[in-house]
Amino acid sequence: MAIVAVTDQSLQQAADIIKKGGLVAIPTETVYGLGCNALDTVAVQSVFTAKGRPAINPLIVHVSAIADAHKIAHLSPLAQEIATHFWPGPLTMVLLRRENSGISDLCTAGLDTIAIRFPEHDVARKIIQMAGVPVAAPSANASGSISPTSPRHVHDSLGDKVDMILAGGACKAGLESTVVDVTTDVPVILRYGVVTKEIIQGTLGVDVLDGVANDQNADIKSSIKSPGQLLKHYAPTIPLRMNAIDVDADEALLAFGGTKFMGIKTGGAVSAFPEDQIKNLSESADLEEAAKNLFSYMRDLDNEKFKGIAVMNVPNEGVGMAINDRLFRASKGSNKP
Ligand code: TXA
Ligand code: MG
Repeated sequence: MAIVAVTDQSLQQAADIIKKGGLVAIPTETVYGLGCNALDTVAVQSVFTAKGRPAINPLIVHVSAIADAHKIAHLSPLAQEIATHFWPGPLTMVLLRRENSGISDLCTAGLDTIAIRFPEHDVARKIIQMAGVPVAAPSANASGSISPTSPRHVHDSLGDKVDMILAGGACKAGLESTVVDVTTDVPVILRYGVVTKEIIQGTLGVDVLDGVANDQNADIKSSIKSPGQLLKHYAPTIPLRMNAIDVDADEALLAFGGTKFMGIKTGGAVSAFPEDQIKNLSESADLEEAAKNLFSYMRDLDNEKFKGIAVMNVPNEGVGMAINDRLFRASKGSNKP
């Protein structure tokens, strides 16, 4: 599928494709999404098929106005406050769905809750507005593989399974949205993202619990709440290992910060590595910059000629928690065909 430049005409075409039940890869500030009409079960089914996604894993529904979220879900006063502060932006709320919302049950995997996001990216907002329907959009990659942060990534992962890929450049945040369950009195984080627990607590002055499945930092166990988080994720083709303190001569290195003290096991310094064997997430150890580069650099290093990818330690604070979460899941199994 050709990658199409953003023009008034291509935006209209994208909106028309969605209205008619097709699939469009849409740039957002987090990652590229595979968008379809959330009201159309056949369209939603084709998203699951294109990704090879298990039907137990619900999709996020995207809107282009807070008022539209009210039409499909119940927002508590706290949820409304979160919407006011963080929408549009890289945050998804899990809410109780309205029975008459019209959203396909397939989209919500039969749950009585629904995940909703109002993205900030101009192109995403315009397409949702022009389509005039809520847009279901998982990340535009094959299920389990590395999420796409450029139109080229979408093309490489899904090819002709998409009716249109819109070129919106590289994604600003580079990691999927923070998922927060707001169906209870105290919000619970189900997936880490660039909007951290501390940011939400600091902005709203309320307690927020960490309920990220399988994470040692979690305050509570809420694995049933976010089915997708239990599945294999973000996996490159070759193995990936975290917190590397040195590297094999035939391993690729995903660095973070200074590499002066990173040695090659058989001797020598990594500065001798050819360009395609080493990528630095952020030379200045900036976590936001690292988040933006993470998926793209993982893809760059995912080359069969290396035995694996060694990743240097990334501090587990702020956005670093979201980065480590993705790396941890990636380390749990390579996606070798
Ligand atoms: O940044 C993002 O959120 C991107 C862009 C395209 O918006 N989308 C994205 O979608 O990451 P996806 O499908 O890759 O991840 C959706 C996550 C999954 O972990 C899923 O389990 C969770 O949201 N989710 C969806 N509906 C849910 C619900 N009702 N309750 C709990 N978790 C839910
Ligand atoms: Mg995904």
